[in-house]
Amino acid sequence: MALLMDTRLLLRKVKDLRSLTPRRHRVKEKWATTRAKCPASSLALQYFDANYSAHLGELWPSVRVALLSERKYGALLNNFSHEDVLADLQARGCRDFINDTDTEAQPCSEEKSETCLEEESNNLPVKKPDIDDQLLSPLKLSPNIKCVVFPRGDLTRFKPARPDMERLLGYYLMDAASVLPCLALDVQEGHNVLDLCAAPGGKALTLLQTQAIRFLCVNDSTASRTTRLRKVLHSYLPKHFFTEKNLRITTFDGTKWGEIERNTFDRVLVDVPCTTDRHSLIEDDNNIFNKIRTGERRKLPQLQLELLLAGIQAACLGGEIMYSTCTLSPIQNLSVVEQAVHLARENHGISVEVVDLRPLTHMFRKTFHFAPDLHLGEMVIPHLAANFGPIYMCKLRRLT
Ligand SMILES: C[S@@+](CC[C@H](N)C(=O)[O-])C[C@H]1O[C@@H](n2cnc3c(N)ncnc32)[C@H](O)[C@@H]1O
Repeated sequence: MALLMDTRLLLRKVKDLRSLTPRRHRVKEKWATTRAKCPASSLALQYFDANYSAHLGELWPSVRVALLSERKYGALLNNFSHEDVLADLQARGCRDFINDTDTEAQPCSEEKSETCLEEESNNLPVKKPDIDDQLLSPLKLSPNIKCVVFPRGDLTRFKPARPDMERLLGYYLMDAASVLPCLALDVQEGHNVLDLCAAPGGKALTLLQTQAIRFLCVNDSTASRTTRLRKVLHSYLPKHFFTEKNLRITTFDGTKWGEIERNTFDRVLVDVPCTTDRHSLIEDDNNIFNKIRTGERRKLPQLQLELLLAGIQAACLGGEIMYSTCTLSPIQNLSVVEQAVHLARENHGISVEVVDLRPLTHMFRKTFHFAPDLHLGEMVIPHLAANFGPIYMCKLRRLT
């Protein structure tokens, strides 16, 4: 009885409050009729359960849990900022996973390697190197790319970066695994580089940290996203950088690049639009699994193929092309690369070889979990203790 009275009192108070709100400011709740019966994120989960359990087998349950949990970020240090943020971040417990010489980036010694693999696996099967460590060709990594992360299992969040006296930010927060395709692209002094699908700009910024690029062209077909890309670049690069000689920002349809500029770039990054698996599971807004975007989603592999083919044509002889996505989908990853390699030869007379990225995965196997036994390319798979990715990457080199 007392509970009923309390509830009535509360309802009256709410009514009183409503009467205090001017009618013009009252919003009629429409959610019951307009809300989607099955949100896009649930459709994404259904789709992934149906497809990835077959593809990833016994790995899927742990990858699924990780995808649905809070992701981990890395802070890409901005070499153009005057603020020395590294020491500060280190004092908070972070470490630069690329250049840290005494920990993660170092390969385990020969006699320890099996133990290391077991320790790091946390019951997750880790790809055991089927070739001798000695046979892995040494990796040349740009010493200028620095990315700090909190230790395994530590989910501390980074504070937003602060501007220095020139209003340049000290670091850029991104999935630390996104740095890997840029590292693997192996930009050298004086290179001309094309980033075909560049917005919002995390990977372009990473490539620029090498301070080796002679000329960078960043492109994205979506005007609003190119505006965002421009803003990001202005927040991280000094004003004198924005000259036609150094940097070009364009808004072309990347699939047409082969018609615009062929045989030109030493390095091409093709970081394609995809089902963005992590985003699709947590965010209903702008979700590719939304029913009205079904057609767009189904066309993704074709768009990805056309973008990769355009990237291959844009590269010069001996030039290298990095294909990357943030999906676990084999149809958007390996199949696209297979078809692009085939069509480049058949339709354009261009041969490419696939570059072995095992030295890279071997080097960073304590920071990231890599999918075992992919026959083409490498993939960071999410794991609760190191919740980065998914990031798929495959590097091609133009032979003709
Ligand atoms: C995965 S995002 C790129 C992320 C970016 N590389 C980064 O690191 O911040 C893919 C981008 O491709 C762009 N895109 C989609 N279709 C395209 C096309 N036909 N040509 C060029 N860019 C395209 C999208 O606008 C989107 O910004």
